[in-house]
Amino acid sequence: MKDELIDDFGRRVRYVRISVTDRCDFRCVYCMSEEMTFLPRAQVLTLEELALVARAFTEMGVEKIRLTGGEPLVRRDIDRLVDDIGALPGLKDFAMTTNGASLRKFAPRLREAGLKRLNISIDSLDAERFRRLTRTGELAKVIDGIRVAREAGFERIKLNAVILKGRNDDEVVDLVDFARGEGVDISFIEEMPLGDVSDHSRAETFCSSDEVQDLIERRHSLIPTTESTLGPSRYFRMPDSETRVGFISPHSHNFCSTCNRVRVTVEGRLLLCLGNEHSVDLRAVLRRHPGDIDALKEAIVKAMPLKPERHHFTTDGDVQVVRFMNMTGG
Ligand code: GTP
Ligand code: 5AD
Ligand code: SF4
Repeated sequence: MKDELIDDFGRRVRYVRISVTDRCDFRCVYCMSEEMTFLPRAQVLTLEELALVARAFTEMGVEKIRLTGGEPLVRRDIDRLVDDIGALPGLKDFAMTTNGASLRKFAPRLREAGLKRLNISIDSLDAERFRRLTRTGELAKVIDGIRVAREAGFERIKLNAVILKGRNDDEVVDLVDFARGEGVDISFIEEMPLGDVSDHSRAETFCSSDEVQDLIERRHSLIPTTESTLGPSRYFRMPDSETRVGFISPHSHNFCSTCNRVRVTVEGRLLLCLGNEHSVDLRAVLRRHPGDIDALKEAIVKAMPLKPERHHFTTDGDVQVVRFMNMTGG
């Protein structure tokens, strides 16, 4: 069996983002609608199925796995999956994206199980505003989670902030200073048009990475680097800090030509691009041939030619992808 995954544009897939649940204890305004219905359990991959998917990918050259959601830490027994994936040979990077609220309970155990890096979302340092953006989130818990995660000794912790004009763009420098104070990295993200959000008009709240960068550069010098975490972030350094500042700019600095990743949704759809619907149903393969890793690998290899060249997101506020981010793996 071919042991590398290469698409029709010559891009090699080295990074898989696996969504382990569509559920979340937050309801971030750009990620979910207020009234979400979640999938019945039978439609969601089991932990054993998820572990087999991860193994199949690592045996085909995937070096980085990130667990996402929804919120991965609300999935029951998530630590068992982290144990299984953490033990896979060939994996160079193993990370999770979390809202941070449950890290007091989970961080040490996750680190022990072999998770190397955490990305923690934090869009505001003002408790009330944080609540409005997440609808249910408590800022103090997330800040506590960041500190507990640092004590647990993760190799790298990165904060993620989605910046919306008029909502939190005035906090960009404060967020950088917070990251510097905590000794962690931070990435600023342009909002993507996934799911029909009712909370705001995306055309009005769009804030480009260049605008965010300008705001930061009024206070700190940013020195470009070529560092990469295999993800979409462009990283900058500051002369007087270890903190890296990243920009994820799907609109203003398209990164699709160097795309190295695919996603597995919570229902076991191998989704070839975040901004398109091309996918293959791995759950059907898993349930037709339980435990058969070769059948799974064959389906994955066959999916590669379906990977689209790029997304076609625009900033005019139109929803281009109906599924919300929590279904996709944020
Ligand atoms: P690092 O491993 O730290 O580089 O993280 P990452 O940027 O790969 O992952 P993270 O979960 O922190 O994602 C940050 C943002 O980047 C989220 O909004 C993701 O949806 C977005 N993102 C990640 N991968 C892709 C991608 O392939 N395409 C697009 N359009 N957005 C992506
Ligand atoms: N656009 C950009 N980023 C988003 N996230 C969730 N929904 C969106 C969106 N529509 C971010 C979260 C988290 C990361 C996994 O994805 O804030 O940091
Ligand atoms: Fe890759 Fe699609 Fe993301 Fe572009 S939008 S970087 S092609 S997954």
